[in-house]
Amino acid sequence: MTTEILHTAEMPLDVLAKKAAEYLENGKLVAFPTETVYGLGGNGLDPEAARKIYEAKGRPSDNPLILHIGDRSQLFPLVREIPEKAEKMMDAFWPGPLTMIFKKTDLVPKETCGGLSTVAVRMPSHETARAMLQACSVPVAAPSANLSGRPSTTKTAHVIEDLSGRVDAIIDDREADIGLESTILDMTQEPPCLLRPGYITKEQIEQVIGPVDVDPAITRESIVNHTNEVLHPKAPGMKYRHYAPEAPVYVISGPTKNVLRYINSRVTPVTGILTVDEHRNLFFGGVVRSAGSIKDPEQIAHNLFDVLREFDKTGVKAIYSEDFTDIDIGTVIMNRLLKAAGGNITEV
Ligand code: TXA
Ligand code: MG
Repeated sequence: MTTEILHTAEMPLDVLAKKAAEYLENGKLVAFPTETVYGLGGNGLDPEAARKIYEAKGRPSDNPLILHIGDRSQLFPLVREIPEKAEKMMDAFWPGPLTMIFKKTDLVPKETCGGLSTVAVRMPSHETARAMLQACSVPVAAPSANLSGRPSTTKTAHVIEDLSGRVDAIIDDREADIGLESTILDMTQEPPCLLRPGYITKEQIEQVIGPVDVDPAITRESIVNHTNEVLHPKAPGMKYRHYAPEAPVYVISGPTKNVLRYINSRVTPVTGILTVDEHRNLFFGGVVRSAGSIKDPEQIAHNLFDVLREFDKTGVKAIYSEDFTDIDIGTVIMNRLLKAAGGNITEV
């Protein structure tokens, strides 16, 4: 299949949005930017489009897709009920990097939802995604636009790398602003339950709707102790090894001086080192990549997947990473990094 590249820089937004929307309505697959990561979109009401999405990603079809909408009115036909707390969350965080789980109606095909009776819905804030979704008469099912298991895509170049020849069109736009996937909150439970940490934090959610639960399968402890799969994460996608570059990733945790000593004692020319600007000159060899300054955690979040992908091009055989837990958005970064590392962490 030839993949058409739709350049946002070369077309008025409304023309591009309409074209992409028509492709989606006609059963084609279109990769598009969002504020979190790029998405691989298809008609969310068409079982055949869901099948094509799973095939293009190489993804197990028991892993349900998020439906993306451009307007709140598009939510009503998809869900059986909208709890009051969900209304409050929408007022506070939509459009934005928040996905909510609802009980689904029969309009949503089981193929899109991995056979579950619930559906995940999100309204992105990215202007291109919004224009496309508002121009589209159907909700758009979209997983992250990466091959299954690989780090999510935060740049058009990543999407082309993974999906060129596998989708009908890719929208070429700027880098995703946040760089980590949306927060997922299950509104079918009381209290609601956090299924995937993201840019919108538990604390921010609790300021709006009071206490929420956290799925025990997504905590740092369960990933590190390899109990996360046994605990059956409520978001099926959280059970897979994920976000992973080709080389194995090892997270080294502890006081900086111990971490530097440990990594330096093992470094070879084919060792990748994932660090921060402040430490990059303190390694004796290897392929050193910084995700950003320790003073700017959002920059580290923004660059994480890009740096993990870049390691693949360098031919490194193993990657040692620092632990980013001590910084603000650190728990979310660590959730993704530890999944990439298959829970492999060494305390030094
Ligand atoms: O930021 C994002 O959410 C991006 C952009 C493209 O919107 N999308 C994304 O999709 O990350 P994906 O498919 O890579 O991750 C969706 C996650 C998976 O872990 C999936 O298992 C979970 O959401 N999920 C989807 N529907 C669900 C449902 N009904 N119940 C529980 N988990 C669900
Ligand atoms: Mg994904």
